[in-house]
Amino acid sequence: MKGSGNLRERKAGRAERIIRTAALCAACLLMTSCQGVHKEEEKTSIRIGVSLYRGDDTFINNIRSIIEEKAKEYERESGIKVTLDIQEAKGSQNTQNNQVDRFISLGCDVLCINPVDRMDTSLIIDKAMTAGVPVVFFNRQPVEEDMNRWDKLYYVGVDAKETAVLQGEMVVDLYRKQPEAVDLNGDGVVSYVMLEGETSHQDSLIRTEWSVQTLKDARVPIEKITGGIANWERSQASALMEQWLTEYPDTIELVISNNDDMALGAIDALERAQAEDVNVIGIDGTTPGLEALEDGRLLGTVSANKETYCSAILELAASCALEEELPEEYPLTDGTYFWTPQEILITKIKENP
Ligand code: BGC
Repeated sequence: MKGSGNLRERKAGRAERIIRTAALCAACLLMTSCQGVHKEEEKTSIRIGVSLYRGDDTFINNIRSIIEEKAKEYERESGIKVTLDIQEAKGSQNTQNNQVDRFISLGCDVLCINPVDRMDTSLIIDKAMTAGVPVVFFNRQPVEEDMNRWDKLYYVGVDAKETAVLQGEMVVDLYRKQPEAVDLNGDGVVSYVMLEGETSHQDSLIRTEWSVQTLKDARVPIEKITGGIANWERSQASALMEQWLTEYPDTIELVISNNDDMALGAIDALERAQAEDVNVIGIDGTTPGLEALEDGRLLGTVSANKETYCSAILELAASCALEEELPEEYPLTDGTYFWTPQEILITKIKENP
């Protein structure tokens, strides 16, 4: 499906179609009521079933609130009533599958799914295909084989390699401008630790690999002290960091984290150990992440444009629900994937004289 015009034009077009349809229906009723001719009515309301892999994930919570705002905005601008049914799967794929059953039985026109297990979306896809209900997946990318099963499956997310390269470039840039701000002890090597997200998440593997590769490609002298998996969680990252600070006292100069929440966990441990000089970088630009950036505790982050991210989810879903052409403001790679633009946000850069 291809896009057709911007949101306002499409909405104006829709209003015009509704008037035309009403006129046509009235004419049909007058002329052919006894011939049993039906013209399908334009929808004036849509129901969207949203399932989140967990409700206590900071990034996902940020996305949830913005999707809710976007739904209200859409409703105001289009005059189409949007019912959002948002459920949390609490980390259980089974629970999420049951939520999908319920959404379908409630007559949802489209589903927005943040899969618990991105490798195991085939059941959700089976159910959606059988019911003819399109699915917009987001944040946790199903495997390609599953995505290729039906042309009514979409994905909204960020390009994990691009995120990682931006995260690496943030340090490269700082190192080039102010090496002493990164190589804190001036020994010619930047000693770092790596905090990784869930092993099964596409973002963890790619972010870990490419942030470091970007530093290496730019010939920033780096040495890995250690690393570990903290599953995106602040408390797990804090515990790991505390352990590393004891094992490697006065050694760590940089913490590279796969997301902001784990970066904040590392900062918690650094503050407890009064080692706040250590630089910490994250990814996401979550609300608490941006606060830490603002007050200089977080050196930098890579932030996806969340307004665009959530508008893409909502607008794609609404177009599917209304069986309209897809919005061309959100161009899809291979007709399936929308990659949200991202930017580097950094603090602490002092202008070089
Ligand atoms: C985000 C994490 C989040 C995870 C959830 C990642 O893309 O960076 O903060 O916990 O998605 O799936």
